[in-house]
Amino acid sequence: MNNIKGSTNVVGLIGDPVEHSLSPSMHNAAFESLNMDYIYVPFNVKDINLNSAINGASSLNIKGFNVTIPHKINVIKYLKELDPIAELIGAVNTIDFKNLKGYNTDGLGCIRAIEEVTSIKDKKVILAGAGGSSRAIAFYLAKSNVESLNILNRNETKAKNLALDVKNSKLIGNISYGNIDNIEKYLKDADILIDTTPVGMNPHNNDKPIATAQMFHEDLIVNDIVYNPNETVLLKEAIKANAKVIYGIKMLLYQGIESFKIWTGIEPPIDIMENALKENLNTN
Ligand code: ATR
Repeated sequence: MNNIKGSTNVVGLIGDPVEHSLSPSMHNAAFESLNMDYIYVPFNVKDINLNSAINGASSLNIKGFNVTIPHKINVIKYLKELDPIAELIGAVNTIDFKNLKGYNTDGLGCIRAIEEVTSIKDKKVILAGAGGSSRAIAFYLAKSNVESLNILNRNETKAKNLALDVKNSKLIGNISYGNIDNIEKYLKDADILIDTTPVGMNPHNNDKPIATAQMFHEDLIVNDIVYNPNETVLLKEAIKANAKVIYGIKMLLYQGIESFKIWTGIEPPIDIMENALKENLNTN
């Protein structure tokens, strides 16, 4: 455990619940390995206390927060400045108290996870789901010069609305939407599938996956952002088809790395943070 002193810088997480968060493990492991005088602390903050939590954190000289459910949208009204992509997304997962500025590193985390295995530029991407996670990822994909983006959702109106919002950002021209029931048709021509739905998430490990092995071609890259279980039903299908898989833990890892950089200006050690996440995922 870090040696807390009078000079120790505090960063942390606000949300409700926060008790099972894996973020303290990865950030504190990185601080310790770099011998940095920082500590990461989770705070359970109820909706009604959000404003006073932000004011209080400023007063207490807290350096930065991660923000999780249910505060990612509501917290914006208490900030002074927003990163342009966070503004487009309309949600914040990172606050830098230097300037009370909000960022969204979730989508960037997903892009960096994919960039570990391939360049995302000029790729044809299918994004399954049209909720908060999909929205965060969609704007970053649009900014990353993908060839095309196709948003598929059970509720097609939500896919349409998200596609329109992304199109209006003018970051991307080639954007479409459809019903997730027709995913097989769209997969034939896709390079990357990102699943943002909770299908297969613990305790529903044996859900019917959104797509099955015979729908995948070998060159497809399949990313499920669910990280518990590590190998979801969708990723099991992808492995059967010899497609390349990206585990959900990678997005969690890289969104944390991007937050760490915002607070400290330092690129943390990826392997240390990843190992801390994996260890705590197994024991949580
Ligand atoms: P998150 O913040 O994790 O994105 P969310 O905003 O609640 O969560 O969004 C969940 C997404 O998963 C939605 O797009 C939802 O589809 P609907 O808009 O049709 O509700 C999708 N989803 C949830 N359960 C699903 C299921 N069993 N099959 C397919 N899609 C599902």
